[in-house]
Amino acid sequence: RTQRTLAIVKPDGVANLGHILNAITLHGLKVTQARMVRLTRAEAETFYAEHAARTFFPKLVEYMTSGPVVALELLGRDAVARWRQMMGPTDSEAARRDVPDSIRAQYGTDKTLNAVHGSDGAEAAAREIPFFFPAERDAPRPRGS
Ligand code: CMP
Repeated sequence: RTQRTLAIVKPDGVANLGHILNAITLHGLKVTQARMVRLTRAEAETFYAEHAARTFFPKLVEYMTSGPVVALELLGRDAVARWRQMMGPTDSEAARRDVPDSIRAQYGTDKTLNAVHGSDGAEAAAREIPFFFPAERDAPRPRGS
């Protein structure tokens, strides 16, 4: 089914934004909303609240606030699973071993600095898309999206 998902090009991925957008387009997903934003500490903590108890949380928040990110709403058939497949494993080093053509293999560094984020399911997408695109209903949209 046709689905939406949230992608984030993280601070270390922004230098390769063009390559990442090109890969998204080549895989047949449509970019229906896009926004470059520098997250505050509070915003990053809220976005990743489910990881608050993890040892890597402070490092994650530090990383996600270290520079601008680009949030993308992607639309397409099975967009959640397809974007996750394109990203590859969380750990960029594992990605280079196991899925060398994935985005994280190509543009990530390690298991924290991993270039991109993707919603892990439809419910997560429904929560994460309005986090970055709160006025979704009023936002301009490309035709057919
Ligand atoms: P993301 O898919 O955005 O979701 C949570 C993020 O936390 C993840 O990408 C990584 O940036 C980071 N992360 C997840 N697992 C670990 C880990 N084991 N050690 C360090 N960072 C992690």
